[in-house]
Amino acid sequence: MTTSPHGTNDRRPDKRDPSTLELLTQAVHAGNETDRGSGAIRTPIVMANSYALPEDPSDISWSDTTIPLYTRNSGTNQIALQRKLAALERGEDAVALASGVAALHAVFFTTLRTGDHAIVPDVTYEATWRLFAELLPERYGIEATFVDASDPAAVAAAIRPTTRLVHVETIGNPTTKVTDVAAVARIAHDAGALLSVDSTFTPPPLYRPIEDGADLVVHSLTKYINGHGDAMGGAVIGRRDLVERIKADAMVDVGGVISPFNAWLIQRGSITLPLRLPRHLESAARVAAFLEDDPRVRHVAYPGLASHPQHVVATRQFGGRGHGAMIAFALAADPDAHNRFVASLRVITSAVSLGHDESLIVHIGTGGPRVAAYPEPFRRHGLLRLSVGLEDPRDLVADLTAALDATVD
Ligand SMILES: Cc1ncc(COP(=O)(O)O)c(C=O)c1O
Repeated sequence: MTTSPHGTNDRRPDKRDPSTLELLTQAVHAGNETDRGSGAIRTPIVMANSYALPEDPSDISWSDTTIPLYTRNSGTNQIALQRKLAALERGEDAVALASGVAALHAVFFTTLRTGDHAIVPDVTYEATWRLFAELLPERYGIEATFVDASDPAAVAAAIRPTTRLVHVETIGNPTTKVTDVAAVARIAHDAGALLSVDSTFTPPPLYRPIEDGADLVVHSLTKYINGHGDAMGGAVIGRRDLVERIKADAMVDVGGVISPFNAWLIQRGSITLPLRLPRHLESAARVAAFLEDDPRVRHVAYPGLASHPQHVVATRQFGGRGHGAMIAFALAADPDAHNRFVASLRVITSAVSLGHDESLIVHIGTGGPRVAAYPEPFRRHGLLRLSVGLEDPRDLVADLTAALDATVD
């Protein structure tokens, strides 16, 4: 007799039912279907806006999101990708949108109303910060308190009677502060609020926030889940009732839908996610250890280092599988030397984004309002945000060494 990987009953693994499959198998098969028209065994790209209606369409809901109808509601590639994402995150349902920011906006737009209050990390992805610092309060009367989300007591202290949403990042962009998701989920739920978690830095199999109580998980699919730096997308995964509202409000009526081509690229890229991720994680640990050992590096923030303030929480929360592949560091040198350092790298590419096959670095300077909440060394020196890619870590360390030699005394 075969047992299900999740131990729920004795079903045989069946690629038509992703809940019966282990992660590697899900990454290959979930959402994919043999194409009825051509017989192709991989879901093809369907570049159509509209799908044929039944002879009598009078019973159809024009905003149905469950059958291919109109690509802003439910195209073939979007439905396929959503099925896979729900399986990988073990959520009840998923919605795929045009970008990670469209996914973040979809959560905030759908769950918050005028007069509601949200709690948000004081350091977070730029667009999240701007939405809560400027756009949502100024245009919609939604209030937000920015707190150090790595401190559950600070989250608890910010709760108000009107708090409807707590939004956090598993590993904060760009400082790598780690949120204790289970602790924050308890605080949010005790207050009758929802918890949404941006897990872009920690895709499965590294972590699944739903298992620690998150109601909604947000991903920029542009990053690790696609993994190849050639497509944009975003997703919200979680409770079916909430995801259905997001589909109805933010996808059908606001229109931030993913394109069929991007959905197809991301579906394909995600096949190798469980194979790629361990390489990212191991290489990042090696690069972080190298940086911490070099006296020309002033400060390294990487949750896998014992010196990281949330190292213990991160190790427990991520089940010992790793600590992400994003490193923040500052050189023992002025901000200008940080720019020269980046310019002298020969393998690592200077570009925004992260989670690509190639390592990417960006120098985030000391200007801008968010910097006030950065830890001291980053406030003074700026911050180098390194996304460790799939190259041989020996090449990455050699590249960093040569750039340090060229720019720091
Ligand atoms: C943590 C995090 N969330 C969301 C986003 C936004 O994603 P996208 O660029 O796909 O809109 C990013 C982009 O860098 C990110 O780092």
